[in-house]
Amino acid sequence: KNVKQIRNFAIIAHIDHGKSTLADRIMELTDTISEREQSDQLLDDLQVEQAHGVTVKSRTVTNEYQAGDGQKYELNFIDTPGHVDFAYEVSRSMSACEGAILLVDATKGVQAQTVANFRLAKAAGLAIIPVINKVDSQSAEVDRVESQIHNLDELLKDEKILKISAKTGLGVPEVLEAIVDKISAPTADDGDELKALVFDSNYDQYKGIVALVRVVSGNLTKQRQLRLMANQTDFNAGEVGILTPDKNPQDSLIAGEVGYIITGIKDPQKVRIGDTITYAEAPAKVTLPGYESSEPVVFAGLYPDESSYADLKLAVEKVALNDPAFHYREEVSDALGPGFRCGFLGGFHLQIIRERLVDEYGVSVLTTSPNVTYHVTTSDGQALTVENPGQFPDFSEVQYVEEPFVRATISTPNELLSEVMKLAEQYKGELDDLQDNNGLIDAIYNMPLSEIAFEFFNKLKSVSHGYATLSSKMIGYRVADMVQVDVRINYADVDSLAFVTHRLDAPKQTQELVHKLKYTIPRKLYPMPVQAMVEGKAIARVDVPPLRKNAAVSGDKKSVSKKQALLRRQNINKRKAAQNDIKLPQSVFNAILEVH
Ligand code: GTP
Repeated sequence: KNVKQIRNFAIIAHIDHGKSTLADRIMELTDTISEREQSDQLLDDLQVEQAHGVTVKSRTVTNEYQAGDGQKYELNFIDTPGHVDFAYEVSRSMSACEGAILLVDATKGVQAQTVANFRLAKAAGLAIIPVINKVDSQSAEVDRVESQIHNLDELLKDEKILKISAKTGLGVPEVLEAIVDKISAPTADDGDELKALVFDSNYDQYKGIVALVRVVSGNLTKQRQLRLMANQTDFNAGEVGILTPDKNPQDSLIAGEVGYIITGIKDPQKVRIGDTITYAEAPAKVTLPGYESSEPVVFAGLYPDESSYADLKLAVEKVALNDPAFHYREEVSDALGPGFRCGFLGGFHLQIIRERLVDEYGVSVLTTSPNVTYHVTTSDGQALTVENPGQFPDFSEVQYVEEPFVRATISTPNELLSEVMKLAEQYKGELDDLQDNNGLIDAIYNMPLSEIAFEFFNKLKSVSHGYATLSSKMIGYRVADMVQVDVRINYADVDSLAFVTHRLDAPKQTQELVHKLKYTIPRKLYPMPVQAMVEGKAIARVDVPPLRKNAAVSGDKKSVSKKQALLRRQNINKRKAAQNDIKLPQSVFNAILEVH
């Protein structure tokens, strides 16, 4: 094996622009997989995986390619699992590559993720091969899209753009040649210390955790004692190999190569993406840079709905395995029982984790309304970090509260700027700067994280038709007038429904909330008051109507004493009901997110 004959590349594209189709065509052209095999076998594998509930396999694959120059090359296509809507997921696949294909749909043109991914690839110093896909389509606008790509960046201004149809295979051979010509071979760095970057991992129920690695320096040979450096966990590499696309065992992987290691480790927490693997008996002195640690900024409770706690726990552990940005710990709620308090990069990340739990692991899960963390200083001077609004200290003990702030950069085409600014101000953004950025405008705001973390991104996408992109950075905590809102159903606080909000927003939000709850809380035989409490006072109230007419307050002709007797009985029932658990549906938690 010769490192000069290796090319490591990613395909970056907006959703549906044809990444999977192109990856399939490349596998076919290089005989990695035959046309028939492709449809039969990949499908079979998927079904097996579904039946066993294991992670659908990553499509990272090694293709052997006989190039026009007569030489054989190893083309490693590096994929990321799941959705690529997150910068950190894209950048982690990029850190294992030297180049990227920037794939743009000829019928759609440059879209938000095209821009965002291009910037990440450029920042990572990758060689970029721009490609227009779907040129076979009736609605292809090849010329328009070509000039869009040329205008995207100085770097692409004079680039030759390949035009292909991943569906029919037209132009795909030229893509393979471009990969060999334009992407450089990996450079193996300093000496022979073994350093391999874990860029992905998945779980095999028989073999344990399989780590996907990019060997950065040294030689990785099988049957030696290896060490995960961040975790200081040693294990024996039972098998190492390349994915073609099934596991293809090798004696060793050389520096620059991409492949897998069967670790035999069963505990998903031990194999973290971004960690460095080295030899236990001759460890590297320093770890690879790994990935920017991603601190969770948004928290929510995940609780079993129809599933058991044990099933949810297993699913949560497995999802965390290949998503280092997802954090969790166990917690118990009075209303919902045992579950998890989880940390996310944002509201959208939460949504994706939830989808993965449901789709990949088939668990049914309740998500409490998400929140950010608050710093609370109590009257006796203690500093608390509150990740769960239900555990906010009583208002009588609060001296002051600080909320997290971000510096948000919104890049938008000039003609959409005023719409974008209107939206940012609605979400408490304070404009700090406007900068010209290659024909786009960067509007820079300081904003409370709680405003930007949830609905804002979707709203921004919709007012800008997908053309504005958002990036944000935490800048610290600022004092803010925050209050805890407790929700009482039938005179009992429901801890999992508590939330924290700006004092001035509380009256309007709670009014909206109780009206939504009126129709989402399951009815009982008696009317149930729902109250929103701030600092011990009910500031909004509504009664969830009973399933049947309430005898005591209806207009029936009954003696006053009979009515009183009924009311007394109902009061007793009321108190019982307060201790009674009401099964809260997901819509109740969503209502909180919608109003705040
Ligand atoms: P995600 O995995 O959701 O990000 O999508 P993707 O980028 O992998 O796209 P995928 O390969 O699944 O293709 C999306 C759709 O476009 C599919 O219906 C493909 O059949 C279609 N498609 C892909 N390439 C071409 C092409 O060259 N021509 C035409 N007409 N359709 C294509």
